[in-house]
Amino acid sequence: MRELGLRRDRRGLAISVLAMVAAQAACLPAWASVAAPPPARGEAVDSAQARAAALVARMTREEKLQLVHGYFPPMADRTPGAPVADMIPSAGYVPGIPRLGIPALRESDASLGVANQVEQRRGDVATALPSSLATAATFDPDIAHAGGVMIGSEARSKTFNVLLAGGVNLTRDPWNGRNFEYLGEDPLLAGTLAGAHINGVQSNAIVSTVKHFALNSQETGRMILDARIDEAALRESDLLAFQIAIEDGRPGSVMCAYNQVNGDYACENDFLLNRVLKSDWAYPGWVMSDWGAVHSTEKAVANGLDQEAGQELDRQIFFGEPLAEAVDAGRVSEARLDEMVERILFGMIDAGVMDAPVVLSAQPIDYDAHAEVAQRAAEAGIVLLKNDRMTLPLASTAGRIVVIGGHADVGVLSGGGSSQVRSVGGAPIEIPLTSGAASSFARVTYHASSPVNAIRATAPGAEVSFIDGSDPAAAARAATGADAVIIFATQWTTEAQDAETLSLPDNQDALIAAVAAVNPHTTVVLETGGPVLMPWIDAVPAVLQAWYPGQRGGEAIARILFGQANPSGHLPITFPRSAEQAPRPTPPGLEALKASDAASNAGSGSAAEFRSFPVAYVEGSDVGYRWYEREGRVPLFPFGHGLSYTRFEYGALSVEGGDDLTVSFDVTNTGDRAGTDVPQLYVAPEGQPRRLAGWSRLTLQPGESRRVTITAEPRIVADYDTTLPGWGISPGIYRVQVGHDALDNALGGEAVLSSRTMKP
Ligand code: BGC
Repeated sequence: MRELGLRRDRRGLAISVLAMVAAQAACLPAWASVAAPPPARGEAVDSAQARAAALVARMTREEKLQLVHGYFPPMADRTPGAPVADMIPSAGYVPGIPRLGIPALRESDASLGVANQVEQRRGDVATALPSSLATAATFDPDIAHAGGVMIGSEARSKTFNVLLAGGVNLTRDPWNGRNFEYLGEDPLLAGTLAGAHINGVQSNAIVSTVKHFALNSQETGRMILDARIDEAALRESDLLAFQIAIEDGRPGSVMCAYNQVNGDYACENDFLLNRVLKSDWAYPGWVMSDWGAVHSTEKAVANGLDQEAGQELDRQIFFGEPLAEAVDAGRVSEARLDEMVERILFGMIDAGVMDAPVVLSAQPIDYDAHAEVAQRAAEAGIVLLKNDRMTLPLASTAGRIVVIGGHADVGVLSGGGSSQVRSVGGAPIEIPLTSGAASSFARVTYHASSPVNAIRATAPGAEVSFIDGSDPAAAARAATGADAVIIFATQWTTEAQDAETLSLPDNQDALIAAVAAVNPHTTVVLETGGPVLMPWIDAVPAVLQAWYPGQRGGEAIARILFGQANPSGHLPITFPRSAEQAPRPTPPGLEALKASDAASNAGSGSAAEFRSFPVAYVEGSDVGYRWYEREGRVPLFPFGHGLSYTRFEYGALSVEGGDDLTVSFDVTNTGDRAGTDVPQLYVAPEGQPRRLAGWSRLTLQPGESRRVTITAEPRIVADYDTTLPGWGISPGIYRVQVGHDALDNALGGEAVLSSRTMKP
């Protein structure tokens, strides 16, 4: 059982048992299989800083300049003198300095596994986790950690030592094309799980980033939009998620975002980088840019950017020649250049990259053991949204089962973009895009994990047939009279584009309605990037949210459908009833950008008008479920919702106030099978919407009862006060709810809290 809040493990989760088993099984280098973390990991910050400073003191200016900008390998041959022979076809490369024992940085995207987007490394497969939203739905830092350990170990075996992972942008909009790469709408949940994931990655003595700092909340116009929000609201929402992720995960590097925040690009934003990150949070690692996110030399350097990454994607190499000239001319001080390099070296030393350098030849990987990690995450993250008349679980003796749609005969869908993993087993479906911002690097890709095969294996006595669902009438005919019908509905989303509508594409709503009308035993399994609209919800008795379930998704779905695994996932994101319930029904800028594209394609008009456009985040820190409560809107499924095949009841609440808010209560499994529950603690300051302040995840046998204690994260209870500056808890009475989701009031009470302030 994990209880979250004040007692979260902030530092140095040593290599876990799972990591050790995985490492041994994967035949990793000797250091990885010992019980202690690599030598430098967890070393005191000042001693690692002293080592970094000593190295900088021995470096020439050319060597320093070499470390502060990185190549984008697919385009590096455009840059004269690029050491292309030493590069792996992947996202990034920074040459090392062998005479000082500084290894090259070999960077790969890795949100869900070691990426190989368009198979630039032919035949190089990796284990694909389910989407990050699925991991968030587990509410389980151990699962997030295990995923990070697994990805990090594969990356290491493939000779990478920097992973572009740790996506923690809050879901402000249900249509964001990258929601599947992030951890939902709540800062405590997202920050905690991101921290655990990063910690897992870095337990392999490699660097993980946390990204994209900050407010890269939509993909439409991501390079030019200006996210507008006031400071307190920003600190209480997206920045708090980053803050917790950085405290818990201690990432070597922070990747700044493409967009502007309050008028300045995130990668040259004094407030974000100098004031918040480096000063208030005393972050000791380095800030690397997103790929193509740098717009200046001196301003970026002055405002906190330490390394230009993916330089060939920028208008020019800002941290190459122009930086050398600026240092020569004294416009950038040598001291600042030293600091940039010191931060890079600190991040490398602190993660263990220097003391346990990667072996520069591919090492064997135990893909079977890693597939189990992916399956466990998928099973724990699938959310049972609805289950009337106990439609699920299906009996393994069910007579005739009809499976419809979603290419369930061959695999499960994955999200697109830089996170794309070419998974073990290959891609049974891979469709290139012909247009759109993602077309150069994203393909609609399925993992080879067939739900139909898994269902057949799970219910060998049943007669299982498949029909593709393209013709609703034919599907309805096939479904008539079946003992169970399972419809797989999909929505592909990708980096660089937002979903233009929350409706399922390709006539799938009509398909579901037609089938549900003829068969009352219909279950819909959703493989989607995030929430979709469900106009058929009243006609369908059972709905499973399977997200993009990863390389073992088919097996995980089958186990849930037949009750071999009891659903335990909870929504990390609100599912609206209609698009209008969300703060912004459609992506701001979408229509204008389309019109501008059309005009420039036709040779008239100009994209220049769209150098920047503002998006005002009117919900402020009331992101997601807080917005729904504030506006009095009742969603289709609230944040935190998730059913089980058993039932859990809560009782005997006791609330303790004072400096900290602590609640205790009993959780009882009152059903007839074992299950895992996620009781949630919500706290509401006077007159404000409730906020998730902690939770627990625990497994109980039928009839078993356990007392749970949760201490609220104090920054969730507090408000950010720019005049302090810092966090302030006003003395007074706070509403306390313990429930199954953000709308549930299973147990309610009040706490009297004392006045308290905390540093920013
Ligand atoms: C994405 C980053 C990614 C980088 C390198 C960018 O387009 O926003 O998340 O790490 O590319 O592939």
